[in-house]
Amino acid sequence: MFMQMQKKKRVALGMCFIFLVGPFSKSMLTFIILCSGDPLMYLPYWRQNHETSSILIPGWYRIGYELSQPLIPVLEKEIRDLHKLVGNAVTDGCYILVGSGEMQLMMAAYSTISMEADGLPVHTVIDPPYYDAYERQVKTIKPGTVRWGAPGLDSESSGNWIPLEIVISPNNPDGSLRTPTWKHRNENARTVHDNAYYWPHYTPITGPRDDDFMLFSLSKVTGHAGSRLGWAIIKDRAVYEKMLMSVRLNSVTVSHEAQFRAAHILRSIREGYSKVKSVGLNSSPTEYAAQQLLFHYGHAKMKTRWEQMLKLFQASDRFLIEQNLEQSYCNFFKDIVHPLPAFVWIRCQREEDQSCFEIFRDAGIHGRGGANCGMTNRYVRLAMMDGDHTFKHLLNRLQALVST
Ligand SMILES: Cc1ncc(COP(=O)(O)O)c(C=O)c1O
Repeated sequence: MFMQMQKKKRVALGMCFIFLVGPFSKSMLTFIILCSGDPLMYLPYWRQNHETSSILIPGWYRIGYELSQPLIPVLEKEIRDLHKLVGNAVTDGCYILVGSGEMQLMMAAYSTISMEADGLPVHTVIDPPYYDAYERQVKTIKPGTVRWGAPGLDSESSGNWIPLEIVISPNNPDGSLRTPTWKHRNENARTVHDNAYYWPHYTPITGPRDDDFMLFSLSKVTGHAGSRLGWAIIKDRAVYEKMLMSVRLNSVTVSHEAQFRAAHILRSIREGYSKVKSVGLNSSPTEYAAQQLLFHYGHAKMKTRWEQMLKLFQASDRFLIEQNLEQSYCNFFKDIVHPLPAFVWIRCQREEDQSCFEIFRDAGIHGRGGANCGMTNRYVRLAMMDGDHTFKHLLNRLQALVST
């Protein structure tokens, strides 16, 4: 039906651009939009915990630029405490820099690494399937300084370019655990570790990460994507200073209101865990929300969703969930748990099903096609962390599709 219509209209939905063709009415918009990673599954938790997480910002609060404090001390403390509580990253002796989401910090990283590159071109490298927003970012930068993809094989080991490897682990879209591969092939290689999903509700925490340059995002840990706050943990002072300068030239600082809110949200999580000694993993999301235990809430919710998803697909020989979901010990939960990736990554198995993306789209499910992620559209990615209502509709539509 969509194909037959005439006029094109582009609608931006989070990180996805959807081309709708008109004339159309609202009733025609029957897609379930699952191409972005909107973390709305946390909404019921924060509604239940509105008292401990709400803030009032007085009119006089930090009206100046406050250049001497790009990171408000209370937020810095909460970020460091949160990593200690979860045990997912070492922050001692490291600098912390906040940005308007990881997206801004990544832009700062390209310019920092190109400033340090001594005139050599920086090539951003990342194995497929990858998070395509970074590809789109790099492609907006003037060619010549930072480029997308490795140069030809002949120059792989030569010293005339700098690989900037982005290691996303767990990876978006497939949840795989990744380690750098370029460091061993090219001595110039620089690595940015994107740890957006290295939290206990998505993956077992096997130990603190201790890399030179790590990124985290408030969007994925608490669900506050709209606050636009991410942070970098950086070991080297010179790198930190260049990153800071880049953020300054881009947005001066991150909004102090957003920082204050983030500090309050993180404090509410820490306080929730300070009230309990040990907690099992058998309660419901609502019970965990009532106890102010965000990671247990997220884990319980994702576990139920994944169980429903796997059950739906288990009998299908048409669709394959191509992800490693092997369990391992989680230091945070003190239990053996399965990974619960933020996205389900599906492969269409039948020879004739060339475009999995279109098959899902025709079934009213708008996912992210594999071609966006450096693969082919034989793959499609669906978000697992959207709101309850959307997820329920997704299951209904999948049920109908899988039984065809
Ligand atoms: C791997 C990864 N990194 C970064 C981001 C963006 O994070 P932020 O909202 O902090 O800009 C996303 C969002 O989906 C993501 O999946």
